[in-house]
Amino acid sequence: MIDQITIDKIMDAAQIVDVVSDFVSLKKRGVNYTGLCPFHDEKKPSFSVSPTKGICKCFSCGKGGNAVHFIMEHEQLSYYEALKWLAKKYGIEVKEKELTAEELQQRSERESMFLINNYAHTYFQDTLHETSEGQQIGLSYFRERGFRDDIIRKFQLGYSLEKRDAFYQDATKKGYKTDLLVKTGLVIDAEGKYYDRFRGRVMFPVHTISGKVVAFGGRILKSDAKLAKYQNSPESEIYHKSNELYGIYFAKGAIVKQDKCFLVEGYTDVISMHQSGIENVVASSGTALTPGQIRMIHRFTPNITVLYDGDAAGMKASLRGIDLLLQEGMNVKVVLLPDGEDPDSFAQSHSASEFMEFIAQAEVDFIHFKTQLLLKDAGNDPIKKASIANDILNSISIIPETLTQNIYLRETSKLLNIEEKALANSLGKLNIKRRETEFQKKKLPNTYTQNTISRGGIHTTNQSPLTDSSVPFPLPEDVPPPFNEYDIPPPELINYSSQNTSPFEENERCIIRLIVRYGNEAIRIPIDNDEFWDTTVANFILYMIGEEDIIFENPLYNQILEEVKPLFGKPDFIAQKYFLQHSNPAISLLAANLTAERHILSKYHSKKQVVETESDCLETLAQRALLELQDVRMTHTMNGLMKQLASATDASVMAEIMTEMRDIQIYQREINKRLGERILIRKPL
Ligand code: CTP
Ligand code: MN
Repeated sequence: MIDQITIDKIMDAAQIVDVVSDFVSLKKRGVNYTGLCPFHDEKKPSFSVSPTKGICKCFSCGKGGNAVHFIMEHEQLSYYEALKWLAKKYGIEVKEKELTAEELQQRSERESMFLINNYAHTYFQDTLHETSEGQQIGLSYFRERGFRDDIIRKFQLGYSLEKRDAFYQDATKKGYKTDLLVKTGLVIDAEGKYYDRFRGRVMFPVHTISGKVVAFGGRILKSDAKLAKYQNSPESEIYHKSNELYGIYFAKGAIVKQDKCFLVEGYTDVISMHQSGIENVVASSGTALTPGQIRMIHRFTPNITVLYDGDAAGMKASLRGIDLLLQEGMNVKVVLLPDGEDPDSFAQSHSASEFMEFIAQAEVDFIHFKTQLLLKDAGNDPIKKASIANDILNSISIIPETLTQNIYLRETSKLLNIEEKALANSLGKLNIKRRETEFQKKKLPNTYTQNTISRGGIHTTNQSPLTDSSVPFPLPEDVPPPFNEYDIPPPELINYSSQNTSPFEENERCIIRLIVRYGNEAIRIPIDNDEFWDTTVANFILYMIGEEDIIFENPLYNQILEEVKPLFGKPDFIAQKYFLQHSNPAISLLAANLTAERHILSKYHSKKQVVETESDCLETLAQRALLELQDVRMTHTMNGLMKQLASATDASVMAEIMTEMRDIQIYQREINKRLGERILIRKPL
């Protein structure tokens, strides 16, 4: 394990904005940053990053946490792996003890597969550069194609030997297990005989967005009609073709900088364009983009330009791809390359500035592209023209932004020479139809929980995110709520403690939240008429919990309470920071979620005085939280006793139960009285 001192070092270095920026293009909004959530499909940013608190959170899907949680979720790593990932990024040394054989085995299969791919990509590179077969066949092929050595190194291109099991033999000798070699797809199991998938091919490793090798493409060198030009790694535990984009790792920085992404078809297109100096380019690897791939691009920019070969026969087939891009809210442009050229050949024969110049003059928006393409076959046939208009309007109706729709509508009207009003009419109908089908699709259960603090306790309401109008404070479109505001509580996504929630979970959580977030805050508790107790939120709550002998149902909360008791006396102890950096990921994630949450202050509170935020009425909240927990506990016990009473037959037992119930009633009445009285809201000094 990693010791707390090292964890603290890592957490201090891993500034949340910096960490998230590697994957999401962030814009500053007030004190926070916002961007498109990398964890779910969205067109409008609801991912918010708070540099001051060191946390991030999606206000739509709820995912987030501190820098470590973000990396865990994004890179699908364990807590430990994520810490190491960040340590590496920030050059912090993590001392690890040698792993025992047993521990080695415990490493997850995924991790082993990554290790194998990592080994393989070094192996293929070494084979290319250091064996005579590699140099003579592979390297000379790349050079003939015009790939410079620095580019060959950058893209980690390699070569696989002709020998049928050269890699398999080598990997086995190094101790890699056969079953995992087969699982990564590098080795093929032919009824107990093992041979290499890639033989006598130049190798293109496929990197994830963060640079890990998940797959390979191997190009054949001879022209042999019987063999496919490219052999690719099969889908595996770590490789899902539809989630990866060739080149994204090398392109992401440039995409953000240029605020634009070029989309090409193949490995060689990406590499040649890089070589010529155009680095904001990714490849779909010969197939139509999937929504996941489009989202990956959209995280960095909404602007995409598709480069088509001059002689691409399947241009009309590509129109569907454009619709998919539009649907994801991308601004789509198209460049048609001169006849017989593909991006690879064009980049090889032109300088970057010539290429950029060509793009600048050839680039058209998708409406122009589609209209021109379709008009070619239509001639002057008015019926055909009408059907083209419909086809194009259909694409426009896919665009999520109304404003953008209108711009394209005007353009279409000009291009087809059809009155704008008539087109607008049809577009309106298409929009309605689309919204209806989308609504039907979204009707699937997708509810989240909203917590509100109000007089009678903490109410939980299940509310569909669709019924926006019924959310107490509807969010303005486009603007994700900042962390500091108190009104809209975000849904919870990851909650370690929610697996088996007790009936007191909400109340207990509320108390823990006050300790974690506001533990250090000074409060003044009225004792008697004119007397006050000046203390802190944590002291008060811990004192009350001790007095009332409260033990929480949630063991995680008890652990926090136990830990925190001796710490609050220390001068430098800050609860929020301590828990956010806690070595137990369940606790640090809980702290991140608690920090991101905002609660609705009920009208009841705000009527008396202007109460802007929770911290304006901490005395009240702390007292209420404890009383409400007691109240809920009493109600729970009461219900249990009622059941006992109902099934009791013995008169003396019944009498006993009833006495107990009466005692509880008295106690509960007292609690309720105090809940009603103690709302003394003071303005902060
Ligand atoms: N592709 C593939 N399998 C094939 C053919 C193509 O996976 N049998 C994918 C590859 O990702 C390839 C892309 O589709 O890069 C585009 O195909 P193509 O244009 O034929 O290949 P290029 O990369 O342009 O290769 P080259 O220029 O060397 O012919
Ligand atoms: Mn090509």
